[in-house]
Amino acid sequence: MEKTFAMVKPDGVKRGLIGEILKRYESKGLNLVAAKVIWPSLDLLQKHYEEHKDKPFYNDLIRYMMSGPVFAMVLEGDNAVKIVRLLNGPTKIEDAQPGTIRGDFCTNTTFNIVHGSDSLESAKREILLWFPEYANKI
Ligand code: CMP
Repeated sequence: MEKTFAMVKPDGVKRGLIGEILKRYESKGLNLVAAKVIWPSLDLLQKHYEEHKDKPFYNDLIRYMMSGPVFAMVLEGDNAVKIVRLLNGPTKIEDAQPGTIRGDFCTNTTFNIVHGSDSLESAKREILLWFPEYANKI
């Protein structure tokens, strides 16, 4: 069993897509073990997106992620990291096929509705960052 971190980003929350997105994860067989609606601070986002800080899209990304609340969650199941990434679809929007969350609900690579950890190591780091209160439990 693996745990991964996933998030419905501000545009997904504003468009009322939390239920639809969570249904896809749960229908596939993943279990929700933690969740919260949170309006992320600059400090939290700088830590979360540390690896992107020199990328040309970084400022737009931070502005977008601070534009409203997100739905942050921890999902558990066999191959959870890979499965969330598959259900989300590729980051590059032109590669996101219909049937994936990004392929069905968005048109832009930055404003891409969902996040899923890209590896088990990232999942551990991101779970601790977004759910520090669960440090000794998950
Ligand atoms: P995510 O994969 O959740 O985390 C990094 C985010 O940076 C990504 O979602 C997009 O929102 C954004 N991003 C990644 N690559 C690009 C890109 N080439 N152009 C614009 N935004 C990007």
